[in-house]
Amino acid sequence: MNAIEAKDTYADKIKKTNEKLEKLNYRLEDMVVERTKELTTSYEQLKKEIRERQRADKEKKGLEERLARSQKMEALGLLAGGVAHDLNNVLSGIVSYPDLILMDLNEEDPLREPVETIKDSGHKAAAIVQDLLTLARRGVTNTQVLDFNNDIISEYLRSPEHEKLRTYYPHIQIDTHLEAELMNIKGSPVHLKKTLMNLVSNAAESQPSGGKVAIYTRNQYIDSPVKGYDHVLEGDYIVLKIEDNGAGIAQEDLNRIFEPFYTKKIMGRSGTGLGMAVVWGTVQDHHGYIQVESTEGKGTAIELYFPITREGAKKETAHMPIESYKGSGELILVVDDVKEQRKIATHILTKLGYTATSAASGEEAIEYIKENPVDMIVLDMIMDPGIDGLDTYKEIIKITSGQKAIIASGFAENERVTEAQRLGAGQYIKKPYTLEKIGLAIKHELSK
Ligand SMILES: Nc1ncnc2c1ncn2[C@@H]1O[C@H](COP(=O)(O)OP(=O)(O)OP(=O)(O)O)[C@@H](O)[C@H]1O
Ligand SMILES: [Mg+2]
Repeated sequence: MNAIEAKDTYADKIKKTNEKLEKLNYRLEDMVVERTKELTTSYEQLKKEIRERQRADKEKKGLEERLARSQKMEALGLLAGGVAHDLNNVLSGIVSYPDLILMDLNEEDPLREPVETIKDSGHKAAAIVQDLLTLARRGVTNTQVLDFNNDIISEYLRSPEHEKLRTYYPHIQIDTHLEAELMNIKGSPVHLKKTLMNLVSNAAESQPSGGKVAIYTRNQYIDSPVKGYDHVLEGDYIVLKIEDNGAGIAQEDLNRIFEPFYTKKIMGRSGTGLGMAVVWGTVQDHHGYIQVESTEGKGTAIELYFPITREGAKKETAHMPIESYKGSGELILVVDDVKEQRKIATHILTKLGYTATSAASGEEAIEYIKENPVDMIVLDMIMDPGIDGLDTYKEIIKITSGQKAIIASGFAENERVTEAQRLGAGQYIKKPYTLEKIGLAIKHELSK
């Protein structure tokens, strides 16, 4: 091999090696990119897991707190109830005898005053014992179908107890904002009135120099659990809200306000500390929930959630004869992730003369529509897990364009509802709905 040939071969080798090197370099770069990607992904995954764990920890802590609170309430209730039972027997002597003694004393007798005082104290003690017994009698309340606005609120506002409160607090203005078509609940009027009275009293007492107490009611459908003071589960509720602009409750006291005998008031006319305990017990008995929001110096809002009943809904048919919105066998598909909601809706629709069927998710509804044409869809907006109402509707109109539908949701009408309507969905009805409301909405859409 001569020098030139050798040079060529070297050059060749160098070139090849260079090429190899370059390739290797590229591969290395690729590998680095890939590895970086993997690292980023696992870093993101790790971050997500940490976030999830933190969230779960927080939830666990909240759950433990709520559990501890309800166990404590349970134990205190039992104790209070036991004491009350014994005390009640002892008290009857003190409550009944003064009247008999007074009958035998003439008007000027110096014993009259002390005996009157004994009688008064006896009655006060008896009232306290009654509250304690309420805590003890938990779960066996006498229930009936109630219209909270009329049977509880109006009744309370007309009661002598309320009159008395008004004379103690003449500078308190009491406003009511009641939902006109409030759904019915099942409950014990005596306990619910007492509950309302205790909340209004506290609200008034929190602003001794005057202010406002507002009483609200509303229908409320809870689509996904609300995590607040209590953990409100999905379902149809009526909500009673009592709001004041009073002193508010300090953060550290919030966990204790429902305990029997917990009070910050000076013993006297009020301040036994049983008011909120009775509220708590009553709400538990009615399978309800409590939310508390309070800011020191600003005021307090307490919300009670009571599950609704569809029993004895006499009012519903009062507006329009049912014939005017009855169906004639049209097939209606109810899409809702909550079993109870599907049951209620299909039940109502069947009663209205439609043929009703249901799907538990948007995905399931889409599969159903592919095989079976339906006249109308009653669509829930928020479904979990899975796609929401809007995305479901988008897919469905790809299969049957112009598909008739109405939207039923617990949330306020939002842009996703408006978007579904822009695409062709019909009326939006708020859950919980009455027979009449859904009946009219469907009739209206079908006749378009
Ligand atoms: N609306 C409110 N604003 C400020 N504090 C409140 C309010 N409601 C309750 N509280 C606090 O919770 C405590 C417990 O209330 P609860 O009604 O059980 O007892 P009370 O009002 O002190 O006595 P009772 O109701 O037996 O006369 C009160 O002492 C008060 O500190
Ligand atoms: Mg009170």
